[in-house]
Amino acid sequence: MSATTKNATTTPSPATARAPSGGAGPFAGTRADGCAQLQINGQLYELPLLVGSENEHAIDISKLRAITGAITLDEGYVNTGSTTSAITFLDGEKGILRYRGYPIEVLAEKCDFVEVSYLLIYGKLPTSDELDAFRKSLSHHTMIHEDMRSFYGGFPRDAHPMATLGSVVGALSTFYQDSLDVHDPRQVEVSVHRLMAKLPTIAAYSYKKSIGQPLIYPRNDLSYCENFLQMMFAVPCEEYHIDPDFTDALDMLLIVHADHEQNCSTSTVRMVGSSDANLFASISAGISALWGPLHGGANQACVEMLERMVADGGNVKKYVELAKKKDPSFRLMGFGHRVYKNYDPRARLIKTTCDQLLAKLSLRDPMFDIAQQLEEVALADEYFIERKLYPNVDFYSGVIYRAMGIPVQMFPVLFAMGRLPGWIAHWDEMHHSPAKKICRPRQIYTGETLRAFEPIIKRS
Ligand code: ACO
Repeated sequence: MSATTKNATTTPSPATARAPSGGAGPFAGTRADGCAQLQINGQLYELPLLVGSENEHAIDISKLRAITGAITLDEGYVNTGSTTSAITFLDGEKGILRYRGYPIEVLAEKCDFVEVSYLLIYGKLPTSDELDAFRKSLSHHTMIHEDMRSFYGGFPRDAHPMATLGSVVGALSTFYQDSLDVHDPRQVEVSVHRLMAKLPTIAAYSYKKSIGQPLIYPRNDLSYCENFLQMMFAVPCEEYHIDPDFTDALDMLLIVHADHEQNCSTSTVRMVGSSDANLFASISAGISALWGPLHGGANQACVEMLERMVADGGNVKKYVELAKKKDPSFRLMGFGHRVYKNYDPRARLIKTTCDQLLAKLSLRDPMFDIAQQLEEVALADEYFIERKLYPNVDFYSGVIYRAMGIPVQMFPVLFAMGRLPGWIAHWDEMHHSPAKKICRPRQIYTGETLRAFEPIIKRS
């Protein structure tokens, strides 16, 4: 393998500088045979090659600046591996997604969200004793401090629940100061269980606040998903019946969202955590990153787009044409992915559940019909074929949430609940890596060079 820079000449260099491999230990990937050669202005450099367990290749540039004086530039990190990781494997070309080696389709069929969370966080499927203990611990920590409940009174009623979620999660570090030491494994574990247990409560309260209903206490006799649904929809004046189909659909949705390797929010969690910021602070930053419409906010944006199409008479071709025009004000939401250049396996699972749930509820949602038509038209269109743009995880998830009565503003909140064990697993993996360093990218400065300071009276 060889890499050549723009200024490189074809003259062989007199000397070849060799860079040592930067990583070390079990997380560093395996050194591959051979090396990459980089020529800069006639000087040839050899860079080590690494190979992952699924045969993914990387050029190890960790010593590049030290030996060449140059850095790499990769806006949006399109080609940049920020870490090695043993949590999730995905092959965007083939449409494969596995957590800790297990295909997402198998996990979605055989496990509930808590079991998958254990797998992600602890690296193995639990025994029944381990799973029981994990469930018990999560049930034990579901309440939030009473003083925290009063926070909700201070947020404006029309606040976006994602804003409330991020703020309250950040505030956990003010209430649970006994578990903030990132170097104490017991404190970290307590924080992990607290976060996993309290996030559904915090999320449901964000919704209750927005509709002016009383906050409902968690019930520890219920499962993780049942408990969330009752805190969302129960009211003190009548009994709430939890629909098992909703619980199953929610479990599946949380599972397919649980991890997706180095995406924007996970990289944020790792980056913030790399400064040894505590877990609550790191996850709060991840929630903010997830909120953006190009990431976890896309499911809300997607449903709003589908609603607009239904209201506009359902002419999907018109919107496909609009998307192709690249008008900055319109993109086909729920389509395209940085990594998947094939059908997103999560979208396939969600579409199947969506179909089943709507059939069971005898619901005819015009939005689902429109979504299916849109998918059909886009997938047959040269523009989308050429660019390998397929429906992503957000395309059908909103239709299920709607069928369950979950309002559109809560969609990214549900995404955050699902992604939490993935964020935790990455935060923890980063802390245990022998190659751990504070994340601190470099830049190429393009501003003014040295200028003489002018006193204010002389400035025009
Ligand atoms: N509609 C129309 N055209 C699109 C779309 C889309 N949804 N997505 C990508 N394209 C086009 C781009 O205009 C570009 O065309 P060009 O090559 O002619 O310039 C090409 O496809 C490549 O797109 P990029 O934006 O360069 O791809 P990138 O990897 O940077 O972006 C992203 C990926 C952000 C997901 C993009 O596809 C998008 O904006 N999709 C809609 C938002 C969305 O659904 N986000 C959720 C992603 S899943 C998640 O985060 C959980």
